[in-house]
Amino acid sequence: MPMKVLFVSSEVFPLIKTGGLADVSGSLPLALQNLGVEMRILMPGYSPVLAQLQNLQHLAHLHHLPHIGSAELLLGTIPNTSTQVIAIKAPYLYERDGGPYIDAHGQEWQDNPVRFGVLSKVASILASKLSPLKDWQPNIVHCNDWQSALAPAYMRLTEQSRAKSIISLHNMAFQGTYPPHWVSSLGLPHVGFSIEGFEYHGQMSFLKAGIFYADAISTVSPRYAKEIQTAAFGFGLEGLLTKRGDEIKGILNGIETEEWNPAHDKHLIANYSHTKMAGKAKVKQALQERLTLDIDANAPLLGVVSRLTYQKGLDMLIPHLQNLVNQGCQLALLGGGEQALESAFKQIAVQNPNRVSVTIGYNEPLSHQIMAGSDMFIMPSRFEPCGLNQLYGLAYGTPPIVNATGGLADSIIDTNPAHIANKTANGFVMVEASEEGLIACIQRALDVFNHDKKTWKAIQKNGMKQDLSWNKSAQTYLALYQSLV
Ligand code: ADP
Ligand code: GLC
Repeated sequence: MPMKVLFVSSEVFPLIKTGGLADVSGSLPLALQNLGVEMRILMPGYSPVLAQLQNLQHLAHLHHLPHIGSAELLLGTIPNTSTQVIAIKAPYLYERDGGPYIDAHGQEWQDNPVRFGVLSKVASILASKLSPLKDWQPNIVHCNDWQSALAPAYMRLTEQSRAKSIISLHNMAFQGTYPPHWVSSLGLPHVGFSIEGFEYHGQMSFLKAGIFYADAISTVSPRYAKEIQTAAFGFGLEGLLTKRGDEIKGILNGIETEEWNPAHDKHLIANYSHTKMAGKAKVKQALQERLTLDIDANAPLLGVVSRLTYQKGLDMLIPHLQNLVNQGCQLALLGGGEQALESAFKQIAVQNPNRVSVTIGYNEPLSHQIMAGSDMFIMPSRFEPCGLNQLYGLAYGTPPIVNATGGLADSIIDTNPAHIANKTANGFVMVEASEEGLIACIQRALDVFNHDKKTWKAIQKNGMKQDLSWNKSAQTYLALYQSLV
């Protein structure tokens, strides 16, 4: 009998995306399916999700859900794939204007505990004897981040499910911590509201529930698995994580190698590969035209596509940006987030109209064009559970400049004589997480880019030739599933 896995996620590319979790949720299930696992994704039925799913059909009605009573389950497929998605149709919770987590003004939806409590509860029901899906009972419920992290608690405490649960930690900075009255509102038994459970400093914590009750824990890179057991990266949960330390499996994310492939990327005016690089120069020129930067093949073009938050460390770039421009560099930035960061970058763009371009907002085609058209990709994150953009940078011959943390440390190999000699160098790694560390690292990259084209081409090629696909990591997830059942 093939293994059946319910993969629970609050965002899935291409249906809805705010960041890397969507990329992973759109590509890992497919890779596991190719290994013979019967995967179904469970997610909220946000309006754009219902609008895009294909072959949508009624699956079941569920009753006795916290707060909302009943909801309908729909089954559909992701366009151009065979990936099956179960969407929870609950218009009152999920069909509204705004993002999956925040409203149009950037405020967290007040009812997020219900919105994601219901997601978790439905997962638990589908893994129990009460499930209306008699012909599809999962062996494993694979939860992702805080939004589905109550599922292992429900599975253990209310539905007494026989299925096993896994929580994958994509970012410890977001935990879903709410006032204690939510315990009864969400139909959770009070026995769980303790240190040995989901209580966290008098509040109830979705993420702690997942870490405490899940049968297995994974992180999205090996380095992050170790980091989160320290106070600097555990965001208060390092104590609990240390207790389960030996069990935490770090599995590096892969990328979707069709969507993110310069040889077929439909968002680019020209395609290229490591054996035929000419197209990259055309994409750079088109990017400079689109962003009204000076058309200059030789100007080092620095690319950034990022949420603009403390995590991403881009504030460290601001004090040196004018100096870099004075040296002939250009910057193409796409992102959004904290107001102060957005304004600081916009102001530098106003002062340097043909050298610095700042696009605030979310733009999928432009993100591909910046990835391909830039010469180097800047990602000085203070912490980075995995990071996908540096992997895209490798695939696109745009060497990443990164801080030595999490998945960045696990995927980027610094350009130094030893790594040049053994053909592993694929980017530049900061020596320290500071403004000075970042500028020193960028200067090292500029030295190679401007004065040693042979080495530059070699590091581009090293990255482009790497197997960045899910092949290996999907096997590791499969082995983890098998070890549980
Ligand atoms: P995180 O999930 O922490 O934001 P990742 O590097 O794992 O970081 O993934 C970010 C994903 O979101 C990438 O696919 C990136 O291209 C995309 N992304 C981030 N900001 C934007 C934006 N403003 N427009 C389009 N895509 C974006
Ligand atoms: C989170 C992390 C990012 C990771 C992504 C997918 O958003 O911040 O580092 O790549 O999840 O796992």
